Amino acid sequence: MMQPHKHNFACLILAAGQGTRMRSSLPKVMHKLAGQTLISHVLASVTPLNPEKTILVLAPHMDTVKQEAPHCTVAIQDKQQGTGHAVKCALPQLEGYNGIVLVLYGDTPLITCETINTLLIRHKSEKAAISLLGMKPNPPTGYGRLVMSREPYVERIVECKDANEEEKKIPHVWAGVIAFDAAFLRENLPKLQASPVTGEYYLTTLIEMATAKGLRTVMLPVSVEEAMGVNTRAQLAQAEAALQTHLRARAMENGATLIDPATTYLSADTQLGRDVVIHPHVVLAPGVTIADGVEIKSFSHLEGATVETGAIIGPYARLRPGSLIGENAHVGNFVEIKKASLGKGAKANHLSYIGDATVGEEANIGAGTITCNYDGTNKHETHIGAHAFIGSNSALVAPVTIGQGAIVGAGSTITMDVPADALALARAQQVSIPSRAKVLKARPKK
Ligand code: UD1
Ligand code: MG
Repeated sequence: MMQPHKHNFACLILAAGQGTRMRSSLPKVMHKLAGQTLISHVLASVTPLNPEKTILVLAPHMDTVKQEAPHCTVAIQDKQQGTGHAVKCALPQLEGYNGIVLVLYGDTPLITCETINTLLIRHKSEKAAISLLGMKPNPPTGYGRLVMSREPYVERIVECKDANEEEKKIPHVWAGVIAFDAAFLRENLPKLQASPVTGEYYLTTLIEMATAKGLRTVMLPVSVEEAMGVNTRAQLAQAEAALQTHLRARAMENGATLIDPATTYLSADTQLGRDVVIHPHVVLAPGVTIADGVEIKSFSHLEGATVETGAIIGPYARLRPGSLIGENAHVGNFVEIKKASLGKGAKANHLSYIGDATVGEEANIGAGTITCNYDGTNKHETHIGAHAFIGSNSALVAPVTIGQGAIVGAGSTITMDVPADALALARAQQVSIPSRAKVLKARPKK
């Protein structure tokens, strides 16, 4: 666990880049990993350390990004002229600030709070002007190379686009997290020169400016899994895989059985109790909370659902947002539940749609039951009382209430409330014509 530590620092998150390599109409930081946007992962890694300010650098018209970060102040970078220029756009908001300025890249989502904490501690203990995270990806293509004649001190960073053949062979690269003394940053950022190769102002040029003044830049090594940047869809998939591996390991450490971890897809906010058993090929989309002893069988998809102790879900179940499955309840194959609760011990085991509904304790929903919740214009609710029994292939046309202990005969289309303990039948009366089948079968073929 992380040691509690009080740092005086401000945090800048750069997210104004176009993300052109993603080939997307979304801002890059709005792409998702384990169900959450890249920007919200970055915020989650720094918020527990209580920065004194958090400033988000955005391009104009990135309102959707702003909504992901309601507690941040925003600095607008009108034209994307590089990472150094992006930090410059936030300088007015750091006027007079004297702590450490931590710069995070919005496309480096897997950095942990523990690592940032260690970096800030290191920054102070080394009396560094700059401290940064380094890693050794294989291959290092695309990243800025760390020139170090004496590890862990960095003399300069050479960007991949600007590197010569020798420099390209340097295995250490910068991982997209850096901390500066505020005074150093304020003094030197305005003097930054654009790269003669690309015309961009690189934040990384500040390292050689520090070196020229005899100031120290220290590198803290981190793993590639933690520090990988997301610039392309392929890197997004790699980051997803790394995060899934981490989430699965954490779920198992906390006492869940994942029969095949490689096919169990979790979200960053998934909450699993102890002795939960998850069978192969299960997707837990965002907003899922699962209590102790629940079993989730194969090919089930859950989103925005709460499942209480001892319930059994699936195989092939779909729980949509607003599902609440009570203790020991069962939801079986090809059952879809949306904005509905199932009471303790209730069962919906086969081929049903339960939407905008409440189902009481120990109620039994027969195969093929449909709550007809939508009339083409509005949604309506269905309430099914405790111990009610809904026969197979029933349509419950909402709004409608089935009383406690009532029985609905199979194949009924229920359009009126059913009183408690009543038997409701709403289907045509059966007719059996003696010997008629024989006559029909005896017809000649044409
Ligand atoms: C950057 C680093 C590289 C490092 C890598 C780590 C620079 C010049 N290069 O390269 O050394 O190894 O990250 O992942 O810093 N941004 C802006 N405004 C701009 C340009 C970028 O806000 O004008 C933001 C982007 O939204 C992004 C971040 O800064 O979140 C990094 O930009 P990106 O273009 O991804 O830089 P890399 O090429 O990955
Ligand atoms: Mg990047």
